Amino acid sequence: MITVKNLKKQFGDNVVLDGIDVHVDQGEVLAIIGPSGSGKSTFLRCLNLLEKPDEGLIQIADTKVDVKKMNAKEMHQLRQKTAMVFQHYNLFKNKTALENVTESLIIAKKMKRQEAEDIGKELLVKVGLKDQFYQYPVTLSGGQQQRVGIARALAVKPRAILFDEPTSALDPEWVSEVLQVIKDIAQLKTTMIIVTHEMQFAEEVADRVIFMADGSIVEQNNPKEMFNRPQSPRTQQFLNKIGTGELND
Ligand SMILES: Nc1ncnc2c1ncn2[C@@H]1O[C@H](COP(=O)(O)OP(=O)(O)O)[C@@H](O)[C@H]1O
Ligand SMILES: [Mg+2]
Repeated sequence: MITVKNLKKQFGDNVVLDGIDVHVDQGEVLAIIGPSGSGKSTFLRCLNLLEKPDEGLIQIADTKVDVKKMNAKEMHQLRQKTAMVFQHYNLFKNKTALENVTESLIIAKKMKRQEAEDIGKELLVKVGLKDQFYQYPVTLSGGQQQRVGIARALAVKPRAILFDEPTSALDPEWVSEVLQVIKDIAQLKTTMIIVTHEMQFAEEVADRVIFMADGSIVEQNNPKEMFNRPQSPRTQQFLNKIGTGELND
């Protein structure tokens, strides 16, 4: 579903992605963990071209681009393949929950309002917001806002969903409801890449975990191996520091 080869990105002299190679299967859930500043967000942003990578190949479903040579049409096609869920929700503050979900359907996909609203309502019900269709973001809890963000990502029927620390801006009381919604989506065999600092969640939901540091993939494995028997000293150090003792069986 997703294949990335030798993806590179630097900001000035700062090499942020130093040749990333990743493959994600159809229906696979990939978790990415790693210290702050290791390039996790930049990697996701490069995948849907919110940042322009310097070098590399990206293939998502049937769209394959060489980032150095891609044209506007290829960029558009690649962007259409994924949807992103952001740390800070990035909702339109002057639009209701429903309008946030239907916006891209009406504007980008040129769908009729009624049809878009039917889809939007169905998705908001799915993320547990059946009573919040017409509320503005400011009247919603952080957890509810992020669930609107997830419904919005699902609305465009992406081939893969990219989550960038979807719970790290939330008050602790709202974290579990958002993680549950993501788990429910994972059950449907949706291809997902999730950058997260919730190790317990990564262990429960991911098929595979990647540890990233300094713009490189240091180690990858199934969650059980990764959390119980990390191979690289860097991974061991990271996991020890954030304290995943409770994960070890
Ligand atoms: N738009 C930008 N301009 C300049 N530097 C950036 C930009 N975005 C990210 N960086 C730098 O890239 C590095 C990796 O950042 P990021 O991808 O956000 O890491 P992570 O998500 O793992 O915390 C950091 O050193 C950060 O300062
Ligand atoms: Mg980040």
